[in-house]
Amino acid sequence: MTDEMDGIDRRIFLRAAALGAVVVGAGGLQRTALAQAQAESSAPPPRARPGGGANYAPIRAEVEVRDCEIEGKIPDDLNGGFYATGPDPQYPLAPGNIVFDGEGHVRMFRIKNGRVDYKTRYAKTERYVAQDKARRNLFPMYRNPALDDPSVKGLSRSTANTHVLNFKNYILALKEDSPPCALDINTLETVDPVFTFGGELPRDRPFTAHPKICSQTGNIVAFGYEAEGFGSDVVAVFEIDQQGKKVWEAKIKVPYVGLLHDFAVTENHIAFFVVPLAIDHEQMARGGIHWSWDKTKKTYLGIMRRYGDGKDIRWIEGPTRSGTHTMGAFEDNGTLYFDTEITAGNPFPFMPNKDGSPPDYEASRSYIHRLTAKLDGPNKSYGIEKMYPLIAPLPRQDDRYNTMPYRYGYMACPDPNEADRAKAGACYARVDNSTRTFKLYNFGTNVGLGEPVFAPKSLDAPEGVGYLLGVAWRLDENLRSDLVIFDAEHIDEGPIAIVKLPVQASPQVHGWWVREDQYPT
Ligand SMILES: [Fe+2]
Repeated sequence: MTDEMDGIDRRIFLRAAALGAVVVGAGGLQRTALAQAQAESSAPPPRARPGGGANYAPIRAEVEVRDCEIEGKIPDDLNGGFYATGPDPQYPLAPGNIVFDGEGHVRMFRIKNGRVDYKTRYAKTERYVAQDKARRNLFPMYRNPALDDPSVKGLSRSTANTHVLNFKNYILALKEDSPPCALDINTLETVDPVFTFGGELPRDRPFTAHPKICSQTGNIVAFGYEAEGFGSDVVAVFEIDQQGKKVWEAKIKVPYVGLLHDFAVTENHIAFFVVPLAIDHEQMARGGIHWSWDKTKKTYLGIMRRYGDGKDIRWIEGPTRSGTHTMGAFEDNGTLYFDTEITAGNPFPFMPNKDGSPPDYEASRSYIHRLTAKLDGPNKSYGIEKMYPLIAPLPRQDDRYNTMPYRYGYMACPDPNEADRAKAGACYARVDNSTRTFKLYNFGTNVGLGEPVFAPKSLDAPEGVGYLLGVAWRLDENLRSDLVIFDAEHIDEGPIAIVKLPVQASPQVHGWWVREDQYPT
């Protein structure tokens, strides 16, 4: 996130991308997001953008490109699939709705033996299918079911537009208010629009968009908030083993119902960070969205043991902040380390402030912070330390280290070395937590970047030895897009291969790497 870019405030788009919009753009953005965000936020009108217009519109077309053109050479040891999802509205968003509410359009770059095939499919959720039959929008407002068309009562409201991960032969497309939507890992055809792990989870159980794969057990560690009905303060925390069996579940209560987008999982503990994007029933009654920023509320860091009954959870009060995405988390010598991106205020300028105040763009900038707390307590407060000067709302790690000490993080960010943010190019960065240093590659100002993912060279490769993959939208080519591939240890040297699409890539919020050995034979 930087200041205004190309006539648009980049923070809006980066933030929008973080939970449901389209492109992380340190160099640009897409017009749907622009129009929507400005309508919602009263942001200043756009200035002309150097380099020409990026005429984004919903793609809507499902695309296949076999044998993509490649510049450079795909490494021999890079075989697998890069998947992502993002909102691509099936029908135009209703007035007042936000970019987080488009239908999930899932894509796959399938990489094998030096070749790359590209494919996209909409997640055929119950919501998508119902709207397709009706040929109109039936869910007019983000997470406000009172406004739904009566014909959809009882259907899953999932848009499946936030994140993906692989489980057995499926790609699970996630939206945090609903169960996953399961797609075939090879064809992307929808197999089960309400995936319950064979009945292990209730059909109405929300499922986070940011589950963690335990580095020790391989379990999917997940949670669902508002777990006992719309607006409830109960959070279900659970683990699913590699066979799909639920092996543990506990329920906790949060200090207040807020957007609980991500969490931290360590070897023996789980931590939540409750932030003041709080449920706003009055706003929903007026026809608005689920959340508003309530600056009168504090943050709460909650810590509980894994495999317990949840009664041990301790909530530690802290300053008013927001924190949305976890880079990594671990425990060491009795201390919890929870690395997350933090904003001083409302991270989403297109979401209303409860007090009616205008968006505070400065306060919406996101930087990686380390939260710390003693695991055995008591803690009167938690530690909060800024780690890097990078504006980066979508940090990632080598996902093999989800629950353990880790060294490297990866992210898209504007160039921190350029004081004039209008001139700051879009970068991919690798941060090194052991030295608190970072490496950058700057694509320039005519590129928008998606969240990168890390692909190890092999299952047992050391941390950080592998590749970084991400999508670059070319703003001066009408958003024609490339998959860019870096040697993750030498990110500053630029891409080692570029997979050139002839079209605009489908939207992305989050992406996921599937290793070749994880595909069904
Ligand atoms: Fe997210």
